[in-house]
Amino acid sequence: MGPLAKAAIFPTIDKAAAHALIVGDWGWLDSLSPDDLRGGSSYAAQTQVAQGMQRFVKTQQLRPDAVFFLGDSWYGDLPQGAASPRWVNQFEKMYPAEVFPGPAYSMFGNHDYQMLPPTVNKVEAELEYARIGRGIDGKPTRWTLPSRWYTFDFPEHHPLMHCIVLDSNMPGKDGRWQHNENFTLKPEEQAEQLRWFEQQLQKPRTAPFLVVMGHHPVYSNGPHGDHPVLVRDWDPLFRKYKVDLYMAGHDHDLQILQFEDHPTTHFLSGGGGADLYVLKVDDMQRGPYAQEVHGFGHLSVDRHEIQLRHLDADGRFLFGIAKTADGKLRVLQA
Ligand SMILES: [Fe+2]
Ligand SMILES: [Zn+2]
Repeated sequence: MGPLAKAAIFPTIDKAAAHALIVGDWGWLDSLSPDDLRGGSSYAAQTQVAQGMQRFVKTQQLRPDAVFFLGDSWYGDLPQGAASPRWVNQFEKMYPAEVFPGPAYSMFGNHDYQMLPPTVNKVEAELEYARIGRGIDGKPTRWTLPSRWYTFDFPEHHPLMHCIVLDSNMPGKDGRWQHNENFTLKPEEQAEQLRWFEQQLQKPRTAPFLVVMGHHPVYSNGPHGDHPVLVRDWDPLFRKYKVDLYMAGHDHDLQILQFEDHPTTHFLSGGGGADLYVLKVDDMQRGPYAQEVHGFGHLSVDRHEIQLRHLDADGRFLFGIAKTADGKLRVLQA
């Protein structure tokens, strides 16, 4: 591909804006044999997407300010917890600091809310890895996960987005929060987080854009569908406080959903390497975009607008939109 063709595919990327890469459902392991930990073919799709992210960054000559990891960080066992070799193979080396030097903001998916192996609580292990602040190769880690719900400004200096990261692992209707190796928030934690979330939203705005992230989508065209608890508890707050963007993973596909008279754009990026899902609702019915494909996202933001793109596992443009600070949307042309 010559330089002209590249320019035609990405005509509007503003190098002076702040940039982030986005990837969900990534730490894949399709069997539990020890060979998987030695970097065999078992996480081939994760590797392909990660290399596509690197190629995209290099081709576009970007220096990303951050990566947003949208949860389901570790499928299967995380032997030795915070000291697992998986941290080096499937995080530190897979998304190398030379290419992605900024913080790696993370959150918890349902596959992180597991005791696997039975002696390892993956939630505690992921918090511990962030707390220690060093990978087991001794180098400082970019893994950023201070607690199960937290806020950060993006970029860190002269922020353009205030980001609220939520824990979307809701207990069952009957209050049940444990089932075999799987668990969720307890009902009292669910209530505590919801109070905290509204307190954050009530604070005066400090940046042009307000962004919320969580692993489970509120609305999805994928097999998991719309989430009744999040539609009930979070969506009215998105509307009331005019949240500009909600980012999620969980459905293993890529989507952008926009509803009429709704201030929030829903960006779903669950194509980081886990097995793909078959969509339930076509993007002609509800969109503008849904595709079952491996891939990742790119966000760029300046004071005037956020641009969001879906790229495939080779870093090729699939679909994108721009959203201005006063809520106007346009489709980005490839
Ligand atoms: Fe997942
Ligand atoms: Zn999930």
